[in-house]
Amino acid sequence: MSNVASRSTENGVLDREETRLLRAYQEPERRAVVKGFETEFDMSVSQAYERRILRGLKRHDLLPLCDKRVVDFGCGCGARLRDLMRMGAAPENLYGVDLVPERIDLCRQLSPNFHVSLGNAAQTAFERGQFDVALNFTMMSSVLDDDVARLIAAEMDRVVKPNGIILWYDLRYQNPWNPNVRPYSTRAIRRLFPDWRVRAKSLTLPPQLSRVLNKCPGSYGLLHLVPLFRISLFAVLSRR
Ligand SMILES: C[S@@+](CC[C@H](N)C(=O)[O-])C[C@H]1O[C@@H](n2cnc3c(N)ncnc32)[C@H](O)[C@@H]1O
Repeated sequence: MSNVASRSTENGVLDREETRLLRAYQEPERRAVVKGFETEFDMSVSQAYERRILRGLKRHDLLPLCDKRVVDFGCGCGARLRDLMRMGAAPENLYGVDLVPERIDLCRQLSPNFHVSLGNAAQTAFERGQFDVALNFTMMSSVLDDDVARLIAAEMDRVVKPNGIILWYDLRYQNPWNPNVRPYSTRAIRRLFPDWRVRAKSLTLPPQLSRVLNKCPGSYGLLHLVPLFRISLFAVLSRR
């Protein structure tokens, strides 16, 4: 296939996936995601991955964060970037890209010093090797097309410095109530990033279960000890 033909096929796939995703994010329950914490469970989840983020950064000598550049692929309204700000990152070093205009608008409103742009994570204007850390936090699970997922992974690979890392937190099981998402196993992450070492751990209980556990203090931690109940994978990716 010529370069021109492969680019237009690529653009066709991206257009189709963008249309599907924008439609999926019109649904009311998707819109609710921008609201933030509503239960103690939301806080248990975020504390669990924040601990993992800190460990990953420390292990790869990326602390303190104040002079590190971070990009969030599928940044939504910027919640994960604000988490990193609490860990010491400077707002002017925080970047994001997202496909949904309302999310980018809200991110700009909440965090005017971040550099966020509206667009597809598969084709960004970031420079090669610009970032110390790239995040995928529940973005890749929204990508149902394998070609688009590969393009996004290649884009993350391109923009991260040789000694930088990718932090991944996403579903490991299919959500039976949401046909617009899909899970990724450790093997699937490795297939997307063949040149990277992937260290993955299962993390966090399903919201349906956690809402019930909320009423019984201490029970979240207890059930979290059972690997089968943990619905997400947290992974730290570094170059081989
Ligand atoms: C579940 S939200 C997570 C948002 C954020 N990472 C967080 O943890 O709060 C997934 C986000 O990925 C975005 N997204 C999905 N596919 C995308 C793509 N191809 N390009 C850019 N953003 C995308 C969606 O618009 C949505 O805001």
